[in-house]
Amino acid sequence: MAESAELYRPGLEGIVAGETSVSTVLQDSLAYRGYTIEDLAEHASFEETAYLLLRGELPSASQLAAFRSELDRHRPLNPHVLEVLRRIPAETPGMDVLRTTLSMAAHFDPYRGNDLDALVGRATYALAVVPGIIAARMRLLAGQPLIEPKPGLSHAAQFLYQAFGQMPTAMNEKILNLTFVLYAEHEFNASTFACRVTTSTLSDMYSALVTGIGTLKGPLHGGANEESIKAINQYKSAAEAQAATETQVGGGKLIMGFGHRVYKNGDHRARILEKYVEPLGRERNDMNRVEIYHAIKNVVWERKKIHMNVDYPCGLVYFFMGLPLDVYTPLFVASRISGWAAHAIEQFTNNRLIRPRSRYVGPEIRPYRPVGER
Ligand code: CMC
Repeated sequence: MAESAELYRPGLEGIVAGETSVSTVLQDSLAYRGYTIEDLAEHASFEETAYLLLRGELPSASQLAAFRSELDRHRPLNPHVLEVLRRIPAETPGMDVLRTTLSMAAHFDPYRGNDLDALVGRATYALAVVPGIIAARMRLLAGQPLIEPKPGLSHAAQFLYQAFGQMPTAMNEKILNLTFVLYAEHEFNASTFACRVTTSTLSDMYSALVTGIGTLKGPLHGGANEESIKAINQYKSAAEAQAATETQVGGGKLIMGFGHRVYKNGDHRARILEKYVEPLGRERNDMNRVEIYHAIKNVVWERKKIHMNVDYPCGLVYFFMGLPLDVYTPLFVASRISGWAAHAIEQFTNNRLIRPRSRYVGPEIRPYRPVGER
């Protein structure tokens, strides 16, 4: 009892809960398999990044081509998955829809066994179907016909094409690819850790991925990108945003898209993505929203010395790309599946059941009293 009490930290803050070679989160860098996020953001496609996470090395040209054609092979959604999508009530949140439909799609996974190729194949299947599910749901809600996938497009362009029914601009493809690269992996964050716990019981990869979805949904985690744009959109001017944020911060309210458990000097991913906020605002002729964005950020920094995290610029960037709010966190999933699956594979192939202890704070041992005596 004393030992576990000594090791206890609320929220497991600062606790090393396992070893990984998938990524590392440090104050001055984030690296996937040894490549910095700055380097990957500048040069890599999401497909290369996902391959790197799943296999441990960047792909050769032929390996990349094979991976991309495997993704294309799995993109058409099974009719039963589409049927489920059509039956889910319109008001159901996008993350709940994804939780149910990825689970449904799992029943049509063509891979058998648990060797490395089968595990990577299963992850590839999940990566391929999730954007198609998000795009199909978006179009069903808008009362628009569904768009068949077009083989040969990049992962980012494919989603935008199926979502909007037309080829994306080069800028939108580039930015969506960038958010996919930035969101792909983040060490032992809550959803990844949850995936590893599920995997550690020797459960299957889809159970781990669905665990990840349920965990990412919360506003303290991936749900923050939707919450941050809701905050920006409620103000008409930077002055109004500044005054309201001052009041909120003064009253101890959490401002979504700010703060981080690990980064105390700022989130590298947020700085990389923020470079696109102003160009997009100018392109959309909506610099007022950019000013509101900066006004909130400045108050949180001046009053609390808290930096933005990646979800803050992401909310505005997705808004400027014309994406409906309900797909922001699902798009985080579309990317993070690569990291979750890489961790599930790592856990599975070198497993020890994750089963920590708790510090007991309940009543002393006491005798049972029959119901009539209570
Ligand atoms: N707005 C206002 N105050 C904040 C915020 C915020 N977003 N984040 C932290 N603080 C305050 C917190 O109230 C505390 O103040 P005090 O010392 O006066 O009580 C202080 O900063 C230290 O915070 P903490 O509670 O030690 O931070 P934590 O490590 O427990 O929480 C966090 C990390 C991400 C849960 C938290 O910063 C938060 O709730 N942020 C808002 C939600 C959010 O943006 N989540 C996305 C996280 S990153 C990307 C992702 O995973 O999706």
